[in-house]
Amino acid sequence: MQKNHLIELLTQKDNRKKKSKIPARLDFLQSATGAVLVLFIMFHLLFESSILLGKDAMYALTKAFELDFVFKGGEPLFIAFLAFGVFVVFILHALLAMRKFPSSYREYSAYRLHSQMIQHEDTSLWFIQITTGFMMFFLGSIHLYTMMTQPDKIGPFASADRIYSDTMWPMYLLLLVSVVLHASVGLYRLIIKWGWGERQKSKWMIKAATIFYLGIGLVSLGAYMKIGYEHRGEYGKRYTVEANR
Ligand code: HEM
Repeated sequence: MQKNHLIELLTQKDNRKKKSKIPARLDFLQSATGAVLVLFIMFHLLFESSILLGKDAMYALTKAFELDFVFKGGEPLFIAFLAFGVFVVFILHALLAMRKFPSSYREYSAYRLHSQMIQHEDTSLWFIQITTGFMMFFLGSIHLYTMMTQPDKIGPFASADRIYSDTMWPMYLLLLVSVVLHASVGLYRLIIKWGWGERQKSKWMIKAATIFYLGIGLVSLGAYMKIGYEHRGEYGKRYTVEANR
């Protein structure tokens, strides 16, 4: 009985798909926006870890993003523009992904049954992606909103004050875990879907990347916490290279 119901649901979806080319195009757009976001986050977490090389390194990188080599002193508005651009891609990707959320409890139960019946790894990965995607929808929006509205408050002390004294670290911790898992599973599924690599090899490479990015993310977050703790008495005071020689 339950099996028939499942087959009926899946066939209905298949028939709907055959009628139009739009789902294939939306699928491609979802993969493309996902790939852009994976690339972005890979670079972002690396840049973020510049704090491990010291406050001067993180400060210099922040100023470079403010294009201080063109505009003397840097212009934080460029960071706000960049954040807005990323926000558009982020929301588009989330909207496209929402098509694949189970739309009712009936559909959810059918997927659960499906996953139990075939015990397929890819089905479990899909569950990880839905859960982390849901978390990121909120956490990523909070973070991007902060970056769009306070682009001038980025730097070794400003970021550390936000993370430690403004108690944003739990948000960053959850965001870090969900974004790394989501990006890893997403990239793996992209590789398999578009035939970019062999399954077993890709799996190992992605596992290694997940550990690497979680590792540098956690250590960087720890470094910001330490700086924020030491700087708590001077909350709000900005970093300058000269004053910290
Ligand atoms: C252009 C857009 C973005 C900018 C300018 C930006 C900038 C920053 C900055 C400056 C920090 C350090 C903490 C702080 O100052 O508050 C940070 C941390 C972080 N960001 Fe972003 N971010 C952007 C987009 C994103 C997106 C889209 C995600 C994921 C959805 C993300 C995930 C994270 C995570 C997980 C951390 C903590 C890193 C760690 O643990 O070391 N960011 N970001």
